[in-house]
Amino acid sequence: MSDIVLFIASRNTHKAGEIHAMLGGQFELLTLDHFPEAPKVVEDASTFAGNATKKAVGLAHWLSASRHPPPVVHRTFVLADDSGLEVDAIQGAPGVHSARFAALDSGRPGNSPDAENNAELLRLLKDVPTKKRTARFHCVTALVPVSFGKVEAASPVCYDDEFEPQIFDGVCEGRILFAPRGSQGFGYDPLFVPAGFEQTFAELGEEVKNRISHRARALEKVKKFLEGHECQGRRAAPA
Ligand code: IMP
Repeated sequence: MSDIVLFIASRNTHKAGEIHAMLGGQFELLTLDHFPEAPKVVEDASTFAGNATKKAVGLAHWLSASRHPPPVVHRTFVLADDSGLEVDAIQGAPGVHSARFAALDSGRPGNSPDAENNAELLRLLKDVPTKKRTARFHCVTALVPVSFGKVEAASPVCYDDEFEPQIFDGVCEGRILFAPRGSQGFGYDPLFVPAGFEQTFAELGEEVKNRISHRARALEKVKKFLEGHECQGRRAAPA
C-alpha cells in the first residue's frame, strides 16, 4: 500500500465505487461519507475540467481549514471526477449537463433520475440511424494536494511544496442503442455500447467497464502520476 491518501470528492456512490475498484488496492481512499459536513460545490462550469477543478479545489480548501485533520503522516490529495456523455448527432449533448439532461429540458432545477435522462436522449435520437449514433463517455479528473497546517511538524514525514491542480482525462468511444439493455452500472450505461463490443456497459458489468471506460483511462493516468511522486522530490521534515 502506498503512503498516499486520496479524498474522493463525489457523492455519486456508483462513481465512488468504480474509483474504489480501480485505485483502492493501492491507495488509501476516503470519501465524502467520512465528511458529511463538507460543503456542496455547485457544478456550473461549462467544461468537465472546470467542474472537476472546482470540486477538487473546493474540498481541498475545506479540508485544509478543517479543525480535525486526520493524522497526516501521508501525502494527501483530493481527487474529483466530472464526466458525461457526448453524442455527435446532437452536437455533443448532454455533455456537462449529463446528470440533469431531462430536468434542464423541462426547466426543473437539480439533477434528474437516470431513467428520465435516458428517455430524453432516446427521444432526441429517435430518427437518427445506427451509423450516426456515435458517442463517447468523457471523464476529467482533477487532483489537488491538501496542505494540512501540521504536515511539516509531524516527524518523521516527507513533504514538498504545494503544486498546481493536475488534470487527467479519459475517453471511451461507442454508440447509442434504440432501447436500454442491461441492469448493471448507472447513468447512460444501458444505452451505451463501447467500440469493439456488442453489449452495453450495463450488460458487460464492472470488470470489463473498469478496464476500458473513460474513468478507467483517466484514473490510469492519475495512478502513473502518483506513482511517479510517491517519494520523489520529497525531503525528510526537520526533526
Ligand atoms: P457528474 O457527477 O456531474 O460528473 O455527472 C455525471 C453524469 O454523467 C452522471 O450522472 C451520468 O448521467 C453520466 N455519466 C458519467 N459517467 C458515467 C458512466 O460511467 N456511465 C453512465 N453514465 C455516466
